[in-house]
Amino acid sequence: MIALNDESVKKVYQLVEEKYQKANNLARFKHILGVVKAATSLAIKYNVSVTKAQIAALMHDYFHNDDTLIMQTYLTEAEIKECKSCKALYHGYASASYYLKNVGQDKEIARAIKYHTFGKLPLTRLDEIILISDYIEENRTYKDCIYCRNLVQKGLFYTAIYESTLNTINHLKSQGIEPHIYQYQILEHYREVMQVELLDIVKEVLDKVKATNIACYETKEVSPFYDYIVLATVSTARQSNAIGEYLEDEIENTPYKIRGEEGINSNWYLIDLGSIIISVLSSEERERLDLDNLYSNLNTIEI
Ligand SMILES: [Fe+2]
Ligand SMILES: [Fe+2]
Repeated sequence: MIALNDESVKKVYQLVEEKYQKANNLARFKHILGVVKAATSLAIKYNVSVTKAQIAALMHDYFHNDDTLIMQTYLTEAEIKECKSCKALYHGYASASYYLKNVGQDKEIARAIKYHTFGKLPLTRLDEIILISDYIEENRTYKDCIYCRNLVQKGLFYTAIYESTLNTINHLKSQGIEPHIYQYQILEHYREVMQVELLDIVKEVLDKVKATNIACYETKEVSPFYDYIVLATVSTARQSNAIGEYLEDEIENTPYKIRGEEGINSNWYLIDLGSIIISVLSSEERERLDLDNLYSNLNTIEI
């Protein structure tokens, strides 16, 4: 049983429970409660109002497989036009409108409900929480959902949003359905944003082996191959060898991969992570090559 945050959430809970009891669709209500549970823990973790997360989660599928004509009565002409071109949008739009007419006035909650089906840029943190909770809630047993649930548990929140969107796009395509433009926009945005999470992992591993002088340079503008170059100094080969091993462990069961390694046991060891290159050097080599000077006109990123 989920602890509902306050009286306002309890009222919404009763409303939704009653609707799904009448519709004799307890499976959908169970899914909704799964979303409430996932959204609650993410709201706590990411410092979002638990009340807002619980209400948005409870209301996100208020309409689901309902008659289109009934849902249309809650929508504007422009919304109807948009939903007609993508029927999957109907229930989110109608649920959000129902919320504003009959439940509450919070615009953030309404937005998270409205766009929960596949999101619409720019997403607020609440939007992100509802979007990903809908995909990873505990009643979902599809392997892609379990995979994304594990990513979220590892703290790879943006990575999970990217992967869930990618999986949904691929699934739709395999059914001969053209994905929505919003989905491609989400994919593009989170492909970039998720790099921060890979940089976090890199930093964690470098700290673990006690590498020093860690610097991260943004190379997006100047390199067609890499987004970031990370430099670090070590004093022994044992430290650099451990970096590869720890990284392997950390990125297991994530979309990230070590694509190449060079210079193992030498004083300049390179790890290619696709969008990020890690350059691990002895202090003499770092001084000799003067890479920091070479990169001095690039943006540095605090990691
Ligand atoms: Fe939905
Ligand atoms: Fe849902």
